[in-house]
Amino acid sequence: QASTEGTASGKVILFGEHAVVYGSPAIAAGLDRGARAVVTRQPSGPSTLRLGDGTVVADASSASDLGRAFSALLEVAPAIPPVHVEARCDLPPGGGLGSSAALAVSIARAAEALARSGEIRPEEGAAIEARVLARAAAWERIFHGNPSGIDATAAAQGGIFRFTRAEGARPITPRHDLVLCVGSTGHPSSTRTTVELIASQHAKDPVLVKRSIDAITSIVGNAVLAIEAGDMRALGDLMNMNQLVLSGLFVSTSELEELCALARSAGALGAKLTGGGGGGCVLALVPPSFRSDGTRDEAREAESAARILDAWRGAEGH
Ligand code: MEV
Repeated sequence: QASTEGTASGKVILFGEHAVVYGSPAIAAGLDRGARAVVTRQPSGPSTLRLGDGTVVADASSASDLGRAFSALLEVAPAIPPVHVEARCDLPPGGGLGSSAALAVSIARAAEALARSGEIRPEEGAAIEARVLARAAAWERIFHGNPSGIDATAAAQGGIFRFTRAEGARPITPRHDLVLCVGSTGHPSSTRTTVELIASQHAKDPVLVKRSIDAITSIVGNAVLAIEAGDMRALGDLMNMNQLVLSGLFVSTSELEELCALARSAGALGAKLTGGGGGGCVLALVPPSFRSDGTRDEAREAESAARILDAWRGAEGH
């Protein structure tokens, strides 16, 4: 097989970002949009990665983060022989929507398929997915320093799930579909920077940071119950609470707060930043609408979502 393809999803973190780095649970959901990579074998090295208009070479001492991350991904044992990768990502970089993990998982999947001549036997599936996650983790460590693995897990499996570092992902079955709007500040943010910001607060005052992490842990526990029970009002309140705690950890910004406030006044049941914060995106929960026979009224929900999106569009710079 001359070339193979791999795909992966973007993600939103519904609850628990940052606390998940310290071992607490978080809730994430995969997006339809994501990344796609096509990997072609090369007769000799070095391996190259083309993304957008640029090409990087896999090199552990590269000045480019992307070059080092690509090298780290390929070098996880068993190392991938020389390849050329054409990758595309439909998510904004630095938007908190998991673009980096989606790229890593799509490249790792395509590379694993190429290494096995495109044929993955069903009994090999789990072992290969574990290696895909290990390759994505090696890539993410270059960009993020101390990734929890939630982004790569969402990129690999999609769906909605609870995640901890120790236990990995456990699917959640929502009683009702969640309708969410994603709004962007238009400013990319660095997850590494915000993760390090909290790490330095933790080093200075571990008790204070632990209090916030504990608060997020109980918010996440209640959010799982609210999703399973279909209690959207409670879920919205919990999003607002999670946002308050994240602001207390200094990973929110005035723009993120403004987008959350606009969404709430436009009818959202709750709103919060998603991902690392410090820029990037917010999530808003659209109120569910039911017809008298109990079925979902999607048209009315779309109107509610449009009101939130309009409020964001009217805001400066969006
Ligand atoms: C980034 O999407 C989520 C963080 O919790 C970092 C991580 O879990 O690796 C901020």
